[in-house]
Amino acid sequence: MSDPQPDLVVVGAGIVGAAVAWRAAREQLRVVLLDPAPGDGATRAAAGMLAPVAESWFGEEPAARLGVAGAARWPAFARDLADATGLDVGLRAVGTLVTAYDGDDLGELRRTVALHRTWGLDSTELTHADARRLEPLLGPRVRGAVHAPSDHVADPRAAHDALLAALGAAPRATVVRQRARRLRTDATGAVVGVEDAAGTTHRAPAVVVATGWQAGDLLDGLPVSVPVRPVRGQTLRLDAGPGAAPRQVVRGLVQGRPVYVVPRDAGTGTGPGTTPEHREVVVGATSEEGPDDRRATAGGVFALLRDARALLPGLDEAALVEATPRARPGTPDNLPLIGPTGVPGLHLATGHYRNGVLLAPLTADAVVAGLLGRDPDVPALAAADAGRFTTGNLTTAPNRGAHR
Ligand code: GLY
Repeated sequence: MSDPQPDLVVVGAGIVGAAVAWRAAREQLRVVLLDPAPGDGATRAAAGMLAPVAESWFGEEPAARLGVAGAARWPAFARDLADATGLDVGLRAVGTLVTAYDGDDLGELRRTVALHRTWGLDSTELTHADARRLEPLLGPRVRGAVHAPSDHVADPRAAHDALLAALGAAPRATVVRQRARRLRTDATGAVVGVEDAAGTTHRAPAVVVATGWQAGDLLDGLPVSVPVRPVRGQTLRLDAGPGAAPRQVVRGLVQGRPVYVVPRDAGTGTGPGTTPEHREVVVGATSEEGPDDRRATAGGVFALLRDARALLPGLDEAALVEATPRARPGTPDNLPLIGPTGVPGLHLATGHYRNGVLLAPLTADAVVAGLLGRDPDVPALAAADAGRFTTGNLTTAPNRGAHR
């Protein structure tokens, strides 16, 4: 007997799409999740900072509010995944130290602290002695630091592994390792399924497109505008040993360039180490407008290492074990597209730019609420309306190359 028709097809099994599929399966929806290589997009590069405070920026208050709402969903998400799978997704409430390398960087950092105060976000400037007490490995030339106590961290690869394990165990979920070729519509224009690259059509009354920066390609020709573009980021994975890894997330500005250093607990992470002698440390990230070229650049790797060791000189001792370039899905206003569109049957979960990990649990809850006709009850979500770039009677949508 063939499987019954799914209630939902989710296209794209990065952390966002997999979270949507899992939350849907928990609501007893029958789900097909379609991706030729689950988790091999931006999720693979992500460091996992849940940092709405440190990542907030002038003019982007709606993004900061959304980020705070997103971070609030992580503890329950991690707990539910651990209950379902027994796996630890590396959520650690360690806080974040944001540092400034020189005097100009300190001026910039103080401007952001003033911004945080205006928006009611929690951050405090520290004396040098207090910063060193929090992070003894901080380099002697670092000029200043700010503590963001509510900016935490999770392990995106561990979370993604747990999502796939949970989906594998869910009787109503099926992961199909195929690329989506096109969406199927009916005579009224409603989306009614997805045809995969093997020619199989997965019919369903609802489709969620969660293919990151590639979402525009799949939606080309539909009357909805999804102007996502690739913004490449390169991260490095180091094996730092117990003496060279910082205690907590250390971010910083080094002569105007942002860098972050994210340690995992001993024996966790995806580096070669499984013993207390090995600590995975993720260093990130470059930001380059451009295609998803998966070769690391010499200049990108050099700049990340130079800036990370300016903040934490002990990293010199670490082994460099991986360089991972991947494209993030950027949007014109740096906000994602989440929820139903004007096209019946079509929902979006894409455009998360720098915040796919932070916003995965919230996105999953919001999309599933939309599918079930419930109110997600998150005021900050209004800024991520999936139809906000669609104007007038669009008959063919400018989904590609619609860059800022
Ligand atoms: N959220 C950090 C990054 O995208 O690099």
